[in-house]
Amino acid sequence: MTDSPSASSLIIGGAASSPRAPLPTLPPLALYIHIPWCVRKCPYCDFNSHTASPVLPEQEYVDALLADLDQDLHAVYGREISSIFFGGGTPSLFSAEALGRLLEGVEQRIPFAHDIEITLEANPGTFEQEKFVAYRKLGINRLSIGIQSFQQEKLKALGRIHNGDEAVRAAGMARQAGFDNFNLDLMHGLPDQSLDDALSDLRQAIALNPTHISWYQLTLEPNTVFWNQPPVLPEDDTLWDIQEAGQALLAEHGYAQYEVSAYAQAGRPARHNLNYWSFGDFIGIGAGAHGKLSHPDGRIVRTWKTRLPKDYLNPAKSFQAGEKALTNDEMPFEFLMNALRLTAGVESHLYPERTGLSLESLAEGRAAAEQSGLLQVEPSRLAATERGQLFLNDLLQQFLN
Ligand SMILES: C[S@@+](CC[C@H](N)C(=O)[O-])C[C@H]1O[C@@H](n2cnc3c(N)ncnc32)[C@H](O)[C@@H]1O
Ligand code: SF4
Repeated sequence: MTDSPSASSLIIGGAASSPRAPLPTLPPLALYIHIPWCVRKCPYCDFNSHTASPVLPEQEYVDALLADLDQDLHAVYGREISSIFFGGGTPSLFSAEALGRLLEGVEQRIPFAHDIEITLEANPGTFEQEKFVAYRKLGINRLSIGIQSFQQEKLKALGRIHNGDEAVRAAGMARQAGFDNFNLDLMHGLPDQSLDDALSDLRQAIALNPTHISWYQLTLEPNTVFWNQPPVLPEDDTLWDIQEAGQALLAEHGYAQYEVSAYAQAGRPARHNLNYWSFGDFIGIGAGAHGKLSHPDGRIVRTWKTRLPKDYLNPAKSFQAGEKALTNDEMPFEFLMNALRLTAGVESHLYPERTGLSLESLAEGRAAAEQSGLLQVEPSRLAATERGQLFLNDLLQQFLN
């Protein structure tokens, strides 16, 4: 490890070998819980998700998650959790009983903030009214529903397990179960998609009045079926038109863009995701889950868990697969690859608060990025320009040491 705790209370900048001061205050703490199974693997998806066997090892997995959490507890003693995110995979495959036992176990170990946000990712092909009513009673207060498209031929091309009507019904059932706060995931740039197709999907989503819409451009990822057998995707001009018209439509209906792919009604950005993007702390439990924790001695450590469910559930293997303490040289890039995703960026003072380094350590990259028109010239904020948002990778290159 390059960094060592500093006796000085000064926040310093610069070289990898310099000590870093303990953070003045530790950032908010979130918890990510990974559920790695789906009814069927979608051909475009590179998430750590695996086709489920007819009987899910729910109880075994909940036991493993709690044991995994136990091993991380020493690092978060005295702190409370501000948000929990059940991601996947398809967490809505799990019964309310299993999730209830898990949430109870988590709360016995770490206190919950009084206004905790608890989100669960749900697939429309797994909706049953009773189950979602029970989820709500457990304190889960936000859903993220994977719709992708409402059009039948698009859903078929994406290998989805639900049709458009089920997607619409899912939103209705969510609301009826008491979820007034829900996100719809949509993708665009789909095989053979026209501008009208993409806008029709967005209009349909907006009509369901979700508090949040995540609108991702489909990317072809290595190790997926689509990577090996690429479908015909829209031309760049069409993709550009979809992006521009879609953003305008969302804005017109009160969905403000606050991140590359995230749009929310007033006051409804996803708190859990905002914590990632503002370089907050998070524990990650479950197969392949990532975590990031700031320690009172000034170290900031990334961790990752054993990826394959069968290995994660194997008592002979450890939950944690690796960890890495960030060096001072890595910090600018690590901080900014999150913060600059936010449309408004972040206030500059967050950088020293969250990294323990002075703003001086960003000075060189900042000057170059401002000069190339990718970073806003605004001392009190770190924010990409519109051009910088389009060329985020180029912008971040300026901060690679
Ligand atoms: C981890 S997935 C979980 C959602 C849930 N399992 C479902 O699909 O119903 C989160 C979201 O990432 C998006 N996503 C997954 N693969 C993608 C890809 N290759 N390109 C763009 N977005 C993708 C989808 O919108 C998906 O809903
Ligand atoms: S997109 Fe969602 S449902 Fe499809 S394989 Fe990935 S995690 Fe599972």
